[in-house]
Amino acid sequence: MRIEVLTLFPGMFAGPLDESIIKRAREKGLLDFRIHNLRDYAHDRHKTVDERPFGGGPGMLLKPEPIFEAVEKLTRENTRVILLSPSGRTFNQAIARELAQVHDMLLISGHYEGFDERVRECLADDELSIGDYVLTNGALPAMVIVDAITRLLPGVLGDDESSHEESFSHGLLEYPQYTRPAEFRGMKVPEVLLSGNHAQIARWRAEEAARQTKERRPDLL
Ligand SMILES: C[S@@+](CC[C@H](N)C(=O)[O-])C[C@H]1O[C@@H](n2cnc3c(N)ncnc32)[C@H](O)[C@@H]1O
Repeated sequence: MRIEVLTLFPGMFAGPLDESIIKRAREKGLLDFRIHNLRDYAHDRHKTVDERPFGGGPGMLLKPEPIFEAVEKLTRENTRVILLSPSGRTFNQAIARELAQVHDMLLISGHYEGFDERVRECLADDELSIGDYVLTNGALPAMVIVDAITRLLPGVLGDDESSHEESFSHGLLEYPQYTRPAEFRGMKVPEVLLSGNHAQIARWRAEEAARQTKERRPDLL
């Protein structure tokens, strides 16, 4: 899979995507991740990427020309162009699974007050938000989305790191998990998990997942 990001802050990506599972995916060639600086597509002396909004109002907007030029240069026939914006559909595990099937994607990360509307109208195949709050720019949303998609790619997680039974994979939260010691400061691990009876353990986990979801996230049911 190739994921490219167009951003004003390439430096923000150093670190989070160079560690752990994502680093391994990149090293194995399962994820080809590339960052492009939007300023490279501005051609005036000051590399201007923003302008005041017509009609007045606070803040600056990202101008259309550098973004159009970048998208035209960076995309191929099947590239999915995704605009990052608080107005987009809210990213979740189902969308992560959907995007894990896409081979070629360009995430456009905004800044200031966002984008000239023509970017949304003409360039975006999709528009994603990572939640109902406003961040200073789209770099963190891009990293969240890249992380969530990458760990779903075949071969990225090891045998002991399956994504099949975790939260949201069956529309429920994950069941509670315990590890050694079996008793810690008087708190005991549920007996059934020590029983070795796999059918009973599976039933307990299913019941607990349903109970936790009902208690904490009834909106998922
Ligand atoms: C300060 S925000 C712009 C907010 C915009 N004026 C609004 O009210 O929707 C700057 C950029 O950060 C990114 N951004 C901020 N919050 C986001 C979120 N919740 N999800 C996705 N992107 C976000 C977007 O790329 C956005 O263009």
